[in-house]
Amino acid sequence: MSFKTVVEARPRLNRSELAVPASNPKLFEKAAKSEADVVFLDLEDAVAPDDKPQARRNAVKALNEVDWGRKSVSVRINGLDTHYMYRDVVDLVEQAGARLDLIMVPKVGTAADIYAVDMLLTQIEAAHNLKKRIGIEVIIETALGMMNVNEIAAASPRLESLSFGVADYAASTRARTTNIGGFNPDYAVLADADAQGARATDYGDQWHYALARVVVAARANGLRPLDGPYGDFTDPDGFRAAARRAAALGCEGKWAIHPSQIALANEMFTPSAAEVAKARRIMDAMAAAAKDGKGAVALDGRLIDIASIRQAETLVKKAEMAALKG
Ligand code: GLV
Ligand code: MG
Repeated sequence: MSFKTVVEARPRLNRSELAVPASNPKLFEKAAKSEADVVFLDLEDAVAPDDKPQARRNAVKALNEVDWGRKSVSVRINGLDTHYMYRDVVDLVEQAGARLDLIMVPKVGTAADIYAVDMLLTQIEAAHNLKKRIGIEVIIETALGMMNVNEIAAASPRLESLSFGVADYAASTRARTTNIGGFNPDYAVLADADAQGARATDYGDQWHYALARVVVAARANGLRPLDGPYGDFTDPDGFRAAARRAAALGCEGKWAIHPSQIALANEMFTPSAAEVAKARRIMDAMAAAAKDGKGAVALDGRLIDIASIRQAETLVKKAEMAALKG
């Protein structure tokens, strides 16, 4: 292990993160009663410029008046390149800071962006004597943000998660794609001809590199990596496949841009009963091995060692958090 300790961000169940446009208060009650682990009220791209001030007022009112229960509530502010952003932070934190768990910062490009938001939050929290420190969620969704993702992930102790925002990332990198986070038939390799002269087409995941980079930067800094939107909400199988890939890479959860995607995300990011049972057997086997002074043992014909315990413990902890939510 390195001498440098990775400090884990404040733990929070984050399997599903529901996006709700703050310009549409009719959706708030339903979002609050949903099974989403985190709800974010959006002041940014889902809101037209003329609606920004009203959306901001709606978000403040919703934070103060809607019963969000044990849910984590976040607000996606406007980008630092807009003139809406400072007032988003000031109004939200001054008028509803007590119930605000997280601020989501879009299109983060450099670590200094986070420094600026942290400074603002720190001043407002101090001036209003707010006891709870508001966390920061970052969206990595530009080429600049991806280039600087390692520094961004280390920019503030308030940071909790990094989301990969595939829609804006595609726009920023000028990627050729139309289906947000979905299949791209152009991202394929044509294999050499087989004995019969047939050539197979093998499809790849266009976003693998980007998502994997976000996962590494997040985990190396104790943050939760999250996979962003899957645009086609009429395609649950496509969503499941994307979520399964993200979970396989190490993501903690995925956005839901439609209520129907909440259950899918919760399902895909909750360890199954079989996985939990296996993890507990690994922990038991390793505890028995430790008693005998052994560092590694065989279980079901496979080698398990200290690293296996760490994986097993993480999985059990996740399952316990999900079970606590009920
Ligand atoms: C999210 O904001 C995205 O652009 O994908
Ligand atoms: Mg975006």
